[in-house]
Amino acid sequence: MPHLITTKECPTAWLLKRAEEWRVQLEKAKQAQTGGEPAAAPLSALRGRTLCLLFYEPSTRTRVAFEQAGLKLGLNVITLLADTSSVQKGESLRDTVQTLCAEGIEALVIRHPEAGAAHIAAQAASVPVINAGDGTNEHPTQALLDLFTMIRHKGNLRGRKIAIVGDIRHSRVARSNLWLLEPTGAEVWLCAPPSLLFPTPLSNAKQTSSLQEALQNADIVMVLRLQKERMAEGLLPSLESYARDYQINANTLQWAKPDCIVMHPGPMNRGIEITDEVADGAQSVILEQVRNGLYIRLAVLEYAMGGMETE
Ligand code: NCD
Repeated sequence: MPHLITTKECPTAWLLKRAEEWRVQLEKAKQAQTGGEPAAAPLSALRGRTLCLLFYEPSTRTRVAFEQAGLKLGLNVITLLADTSSVQKGESLRDTVQTLCAEGIEALVIRHPEAGAAHIAAQAASVPVINAGDGTNEHPTQALLDLFTMIRHKGNLRGRKIAIVGDIRHSRVARSNLWLLEPTGAEVWLCAPPSLLFPTPLSNAKQTSSLQEALQNADIVMVLRLQKERMAEGLLPSLESYARDYQINANTLQWAKPDCIVMHPGPMNRGIEITDEVADGAQSVILEQVRNGLYIRLAVLEYAMGGMETE
């Protein structure tokens, strides 16, 4: 079954190629529309099939991108939010997934606060399952759209310096990016206060608590959300001290290469991990990441539902 649970196992090259084809096609369609031509209806072999989004956590970008992608493919999209479903009555994840499959869904996109939930869902399901973020574990489609964005700006990533700055230890985005970036030959640096880094050294990235060391000569900076809930766990002294030492602002960005791009998966805490001037500045590709998220989800749904040859 073509599940997408982790970036350790995924047909990356096929997905990136297909996402690029979607980008070209949809850009062309947009231009034609502004030129007064009517929008062409997408021709999709998947038309009329049923996709279910099961979200146990809040989401804006990921959920809307999957819904948009589903609609563009002509799918019937059902969105189920855990706070309005039988989950509220204590139903287990297994039972919910098996119920949805018995009701005839043909693919499932799941977001859940617990690491490993997407894997459990895939074991219970009789249809392909796509992980839209499971706790601190992984967020494969975010990492794929990040990689797509990096390649669009920098081409081959071999030897490129990528600094990922923020709450690394609790970030599913960082984890999925690490697996996906490993084969590209990029030089990945992870930067955070010691309490928010991985406790042991990694084979595929360098870790530092010095922002200057991480940013020096960087080609790409990926800023991650500071998860405020970590303050309650005593892992951070204060937001002010974090902002003082780790904020990406016009001054700290000067350590990076002049053509360094700035990324953030969102949602952003403006004024904490990133300032307005950088988030909205010329080096920011943050909204482009959002747009690329649509192309990646189109490709991922085709992969999961379309019986594609990906070799
Ligand atoms: C991330 C997530 O939810 O994992 N956001 C996203 O999907 N765009 C990152 C975060 O919550 O910080």
